[in-house]
Amino acid sequence: MTSPTPDSMPRTRSSWFEDNRKNWNDRAALHHASGYGIQELIDDPRAISATLVPDVARLGDLTGKDVIHLQCHLGTDTVSLSRLGPRRVVGVDLSGESVRRARAIATECRADVEYVEANVYDAREAVVGDFQLVFTSLGVLCWLPDVDGWARVVASLLAPGGRFVIRDDHPMFMTIGEDVSRGLLVEQPYFQQDEPLTWDDAGSYVVASPGAPAIGNTRNHQWNHSLGEIVTALLRAGLVITALEESSYSAWCPWPELMVADEAGRYRLRDRPERLPMQFVIEAHRPA
Ligand SMILES: C[S@@+](CC[C@H](N)C(=O)[O-])C[C@H]1O[C@@H](n2cnc3c(N)ncnc32)[C@H](O)[C@@H]1O
Repeated sequence: MTSPTPDSMPRTRSSWFEDNRKNWNDRAALHHASGYGIQELIDDPRAISATLVPDVARLGDLTGKDVIHLQCHLGTDTVSLSRLGPRRVVGVDLSGESVRRARAIATECRADVEYVEANVYDAREAVVGDFQLVFTSLGVLCWLPDVDGWARVVASLLAPGGRFVIRDDHPMFMTIGEDVSRGLLVEQPYFQQDEPLTWDDAGSYVVASPGAPAIGNTRNHQWNHSLGEIVTALLRAGLVITALEESSYSAWCPWPELMVADEAGRYRLRDRPERLPMQFVIEAHRPA
């Protein structure tokens, strides 16, 4: 991450998505080259991605169910979901390069997954059928300008009685600036803003292997959404919320000088980790 840059030109929602799509196309190549746990999924047909493992128990038995995974990226979690027994698994992502690579990875994993290239806001029109589970996780809401529209899409994809599970970076974690030399300072908005934070950043959250493809399309746009805004959006969309959990660990490490990883690869603050929530999980369902 670098500091947000002022976005001097007047911009539209479609141009923000277009910048993000190009940025994620580049990140897909970089992430694929970094490993991203893909070989482990190919080598072991029962392997589950490290990012999905914490949710396997809460997702339960998916036998016979139809599952949709929003913002699936390279599909490592999507392939893992397909190994929990569902009848149908669909992954949706804005980035065509992510979807193209996800298809190839699923083939190598001998996993039966459908991938659809679409903006999450268009997912209802892009995908046929209703789902008993809508799942999305880790680095998703920050790419979306409004949570109300997103929550309506989630609800529209659910069959009556269907479940929704989201695990994502906590919005309080997202307020802390990159430079932590003077401590954890709240520098970015907690509440949803109309205008995005625009970044110009050639890096990503993976350790790039030597010779890995560079990110040429560095410009990207992000939004934060408060926990109250997320919960309220899901309630307004008609969902019943049954669980809201916060945790003090992150799947990625923005501040190597302040964080330590445990054996499961979860990063916590070295000093008093109880100070800052880093992830949240919400479980909800559409009334039957
Ligand atoms: C951080 S990744 C999700 C990571 C995923 N949990 C994983 O383990 O790989 C974010 C994904 O959101 C996708 N994305 C961003 N904006 C989107 C949008 N408006 N609609 C659909 N997908 C979007 C990106 O293309 C990217 O693949």
